[in-house]
Amino acid sequence: MPATAVVGLQWGDEGKGKVIDSFAAEADVVARYAGGNNAGHTVIVGGEKYVLHLIPGGILHEGTVNLIGRGVVVSLEHLLYEMEGLEARGVPVRERLRLDAGCHVIFPYHRHLDRLLERWRGSGRIGTTGRGIGPAYADRVARTGIRVGDLLQPALFESRLRAALAEKNAIIARVYEDDPEPADRLYEESRQQAERLRELIVDGGALVRRALARSERVLFEGAQGSLLDLDAGTYPYVTSSWTGVWGIAGGIGVAPRCIGRAFAVSKAYATRVGEGPMPTEITDEVGDRLREAGNEYGATTGRPRRCGWFDAVAARYAAELNGIDGLVLTNLDVLSGFHPLPVAVAYRVPAEVPAGGPASGAELLPEFPGARLDLGRVEPVYEELEGWDEDLTGVRSWKDLPGPARAYVGFLEERIGVPVLKVSVGPGRDQMIDGPSFAGGLWA
Ligand code: IMP
Repeated sequence: MPATAVVGLQWGDEGKGKVIDSFAAEADVVARYAGGNNAGHTVIVGGEKYVLHLIPGGILHEGTVNLIGRGVVVSLEHLLYEMEGLEARGVPVRERLRLDAGCHVIFPYHRHLDRLLERWRGSGRIGTTGRGIGPAYADRVARTGIRVGDLLQPALFESRLRAALAEKNAIIARVYEDDPEPADRLYEESRQQAERLRELIVDGGALVRRALARSERVLFEGAQGSLLDLDAGTYPYVTSSWTGVWGIAGGIGVAPRCIGRAFAVSKAYATRVGEGPMPTEITDEVGDRLREAGNEYGATTGRPRRCGWFDAVAARYAAELNGIDGLVLTNLDVLSGFHPLPVAVAYRVPAEVPAGGPASGAELLPEFPGARLDLGRVEPVYEELEGWDEDLTGVRSWKDLPGPARAYVGFLEERIGVPVLKVSVGPGRDQMIDGPSFAGGLWA
């Protein structure tokens, strides 16, 4: 049976955790393929809140295998900490979790370099989560990384760690003029951590390929969002992995054609954490109101999220890139009481007035410009939709939504070019409404 993918359509924090948890009820395997513990997936079950950073969102379901695929960068320290937190709450993590031996490991020197690099960038900083994600992926590409499987081979690990540390400490001390990373306990601690995980370490690609051959239901879990993708996103203000559907084949070890359905998750408005262009950002008190209404503070770093109106230009681009079959629209309830509701339907590039030269005219962009133009230069062209005041959190069926809310969802559907599978009206598992026009199931 072909697999299903769930990805973020925006800059992350779309509510994928809740959606994956709900889809996982039908899945045999949930596999994450990118990112690291920069992600923060929140799931609320029976009034209890679980925040997952590294562990896939099917972990709360009995009978589900949860794989951390080889495209994920893993801090073993963080993984063990997250496992212990879930175990303390009665979740049988060891029965349900598997870790690919090919995952690259985030070491303390990666976090150290992440901080130093951000400092070095100054006003050009990215606003990373500080989890060492970029430096760990950089090592993978530079072929100086260390994989989970390497840690189970003491002699090999020792020589690779020694070489990596020597190089990193030379950079830390001589380029950044900072204190080198202590080498003494790192080898022993990492070895102990790997031994505690040994029984969970597998060839994840083979695990998924076998599951697919047995016609099991496999769900690929995206982290971050398409606009934070290393190549498709707002470079360089992106994360360091392939967050879209295109990251699955490499990040798991499966053929692209095994992906039968792709769903995207998007908020009914826009948010972004960290630096980088965001055309529909609201910088006045309306933005603050939206932040409070949606409790828009980062699940990983606690940073206030930048809030903005829905950007249908960017959403259409991301949906097209991922080949999205259906959309889950989250946080619709948060928009109650906002009047009107602007939606960006195009961008405008303001006229340039070069010193001493004639002004060139403003340009209208109906589509996302990609790398052709710095997104920081565009202004949104809005269409205004009617808002509503009703509390949506108790609504459970499409027909019970207020007319303007249905019209708003219908407008987004038409602009993005993808049918809405479900609308979410609150963080709880049950606060989901079936969309009006989606035909087809979760699995191809
Ligand atoms: P990094 O992934 O820590 O290197 O951060 C790069 C950029 O991606 C920063 O702007 C982060 O705020 C952003 N980012 C990374 N992970 C997430 C996420 O899960 N949600 C939202 N933003 C994220």
